[in-house]
Amino acid sequence: MSELTHSASIEHLGASPSVILPTHSDKEARPESCNYRHLAASVHSQAELGKQERIAIIRGDLVVRYPAITHMLSYTRWLLDAPPRTRTTGMLVTGPVGAGKTTFARLIQRTYARRSGADAVPIISISLTGARHARTVYGRILEALNGPVKTSHRTSDREATVVRLLKAVHCRALIVDEVQDVLAGSVQEQRSALDAIKFLMNELQLPILAFGVTAAAEAFRSDMHLDARFKRFELATWEVGSSFANFLRSIVRLLPLRKPSRLDTETAMNFLAKHSGGSLDGIMTLIRHAAVHAVLSGEELIDSAILQQALTVPDTEDIHSAVD
Ligand SMILES: Nc1ncnc2c1ncn2[C@@H]1O[C@H](COP(=O)(O)OP(=O)(O)O)[C@@H](O)[C@H]1O
Ligand SMILES: [Mg+2]
Repeated sequence: MSELTHSASIEHLGASPSVILPTHSDKEARPESCNYRHLAASVHSQAELGKQERIAIIRGDLVVRYPAITHMLSYTRWLLDAPPRTRTTGMLVTGPVGAGKTTFARLIQRTYARRSGADAVPIISISLTGARHARTVYGRILEALNGPVKTSHRTSDREATVVRLLKAVHCRALIVDEVQDVLAGSVQEQRSALDAIKFLMNELQLPILAFGVTAAAEAFRSDMHLDARFKRFELATWEVGSSFANFLRSIVRLLPLRKPSRLDTETAMNFLAKHSGGSLDGIMTLIRHAAVHAVLSGEELIDSAILQQALTVPDTEDIHSAVD
């Protein structure tokens, strides 16, 4: 994983647009009176909120644009901005469960939805959970488009409807999550599901953004045409090191705690890596628990004692009865 720069941006999904972390000169320009210089500018006002409101923010969706994310976003942009070509390309993002694949897929959708006009549906997103046949793949797309999904529809009818609707909404890309699920089918079923994806790529010159656990790469590798057309990216597990330290420095700037925390120490990093197995999901769960304990206890920062408490899920009763 490449290095994170100090200007990495962070954001809350579903909230205001992404926030660029301040550069050093921004920091100098900020008035001395600000109590929350350890936080990103967008989080200053949140730090003033009551305990329950801050806990809700901590438990909400947080997205850090660490270098792998920025790199993938820029490739996505390159794909989407390219004029339609006869040989359309796609991307395949693999990684273990909890590595951040679906979060990234949502980030792409949100980024491009925001740029589009009111009625435009530029990116369609489906999940292949349990899908083993082209018919189901088309059915999922129709559902995503709120289109007609009659069980009586034959695969060829669905295919024609999907092509017509995707053209009508000027779809610019198709997100396909959980692609490894096609592997659960027979060789014939796998081919059928993957053929549907290839067909849409060819027929509509539609870039496909595919996501799945590491085994998904196998499904694509088994098909020469798909293999050649998809650029691979991997979201790996996290290990103690400078990239992890940078990620942790970004995340503490986003937690509305009133005092500065250090998670980039060897001890904290070792703790988080050990108890999460390096999964981003596990890391974020521990950090969220720790931050909630920090608010409830009034400590207002995460230190090694609070980090130990992160192994325990905060008590919901304590959260509901928290007073400022
Ligand atoms: N870019 C990110 N920044 C911060 N937290 C993230 C990020 N991506 C994922 N997470 C955390 O990891 C969890 C699991 O991510 P998810 O996208 O569902 O993983 P996957 O789809 O690879 O199984 C999310 O709920 C979130 O807490
Ligand atoms: Mg997922």
